[in-house]
Amino acid sequence: ASMHTELEKLVSTAKGTEAELAKKDFEGFKKIFHNFLQAKAPSVDWAKIYRPPEDLIQPYEKIKAKGLPANVTESLNKLVVVKLNGGLGTSMGCKGPKSLISVRNENTFLDLTVQQIEHLNKTFNADVPLVLMNSFNTDEDTKKILQKYTHHRVKIHTFNQSRYPRINKESLLPVAKDMSMSGDNAEAWYPPGHGDIYASFYNSGLLDQLIAEGKEYIFVSNIDNLGATVDLYILNHLMKQPDDRRCEFVMEVTDKTRADVKANVGTYRTQGGTLIQYDRKLRLLEIAQVPKAHVDEFKSVTKFKIFNTNNLWISLPAIKRLQEHNSTDMEIIVNPKTLDGGLNVIQLETAVGAAIKSFDNALGVNVPRSRFLPVKTTSDLLLVMSNLYSLEAGSLTMSKKREFLTTPHVKLGSSFTKVHDFLTRFESIPDMLELDHLTVSGDVTFGKQVSLKGTVIIIANHGDRIDIPAGALLENKIVSGNLRI
Ligand code: UTP
Repeated sequence: ASMHTELEKLVSTAKGTEAELAKKDFEGFKKIFHNFLQAKAPSVDWAKIYRPPEDLIQPYEKIKAKGLPANVTESLNKLVVVKLNGGLGTSMGCKGPKSLISVRNENTFLDLTVQQIEHLNKTFNADVPLVLMNSFNTDEDTKKILQKYTHHRVKIHTFNQSRYPRINKESLLPVAKDMSMSGDNAEAWYPPGHGDIYASFYNSGLLDQLIAEGKEYIFVSNIDNLGATVDLYILNHLMKQPDDRRCEFVMEVTDKTRADVKANVGTYRTQGGTLIQYDRKLRLLEIAQVPKAHVDEFKSVTKFKIFNTNNLWISLPAIKRLQEHNSTDMEIIVNPKTLDGGLNVIQLETAVGAAIKSFDNALGVNVPRSRFLPVKTTSDLLLVMSNLYSLEAGSLTMSKKREFLTTPHVKLGSSFTKVHDFLTRFESIPDMLELDHLTVSGDVTFGKQVSLKGTVIIIANHGDRIDIPAGALLENKIVSGNLRI
């Protein structure tokens, strides 16, 4: 009840359209807050978890064998590409939207996305629009940039996700004083995760507009996943389903590797959960829902072999139906944070894939790893900037000159975390075609045209600096301390 009063007070400080927006946002917030108070942890009963049967997670090869749509243009014209664009580039030391970071030859994530869709539209004489889900953190900067695409052959729409109030961990009341987003209130708000897409897409009116235009499916993905291109085989599979067995939701999953398991110690947000069968339905299981005693089992590759790439194909009319019946059901992720002033808060979030259990005839498709190419760190950035990949019409593909199918394992130290530092430490991006493993730590710089092969480890101890000279070839080498090559 007191939460209710606090929210009313907050809304009363807003004027005009801002008040209208706040009211809508708070409707959603009240629901999630109510569910949060009701929820008894843990939300899953471990004994009821089954590995999904073969027909619920199909290999991509099987989908591909069914061929391309008879009329590609017609199928594409029923599709909308949605990119999740609410996040900032803070983990790579950037201030603005993550989508505006340059990843390859001055092209940003957003540039590459636009190029991909434009290429698709030109090749097939189609009209696939791009929809960006922005947040209050990214909307203004993104819209400024969008002007540069006015003459490209892709219609771009945006809508904003909700703005929810962060909650004081002790009192369980909002920390915001009023609706403003600056001064004391700068840290009082948050975008509530990508699961917010269902409500905010619906509330924006854009969902209805696209349905009226004849669109049937959205292909949703993280804007930082450079492997998330429109796949015509999956599209064909969706279009071919008979009306009474319409597949309303496809989640692209991919096989875990040993490296994933190692990289995934401790942090639950690095990997998007696994698909399980629960109560005869496909369900997304995230580590936050796993009882402590089963965490190692969850992380292993033996029982849970696949994980969610967050590339999703979702039926537009189904989203509308679920929203109107208030039956989009997602587990709540409680995300604890400490504000700059030291105050402990929680923010309640949801993940887009968690709604899979609410849709009819949902399907997992086990796709090649190449469809999951996320750029979360500058180590990832080094890979996608290098000659391991070639760029064509906005899409990155592994270079044919690479003999192994796997990507090298790259670990850059903390002096490389920020994009700016990373760029100044590499005069040019090294040749990495024959690299297996690279570890760099401390104050290290790379001259022009360095070549890295096999396993290379470079460690500059505290107070030391290592400059790899231009043109150097490092093959199966350890460079450390004062040693010079
Ligand atoms: P995340 O920050 O959630 O990435 O953003 P992650 O760490 O890989 O977490 P998982 O894979 O989801 O568990 C993923 C995408 O979702 C967008 C980001 O901009 C990014 O493209 N996002 C995230 C939103 O649009 N809104 C949000 O509230 C959160």
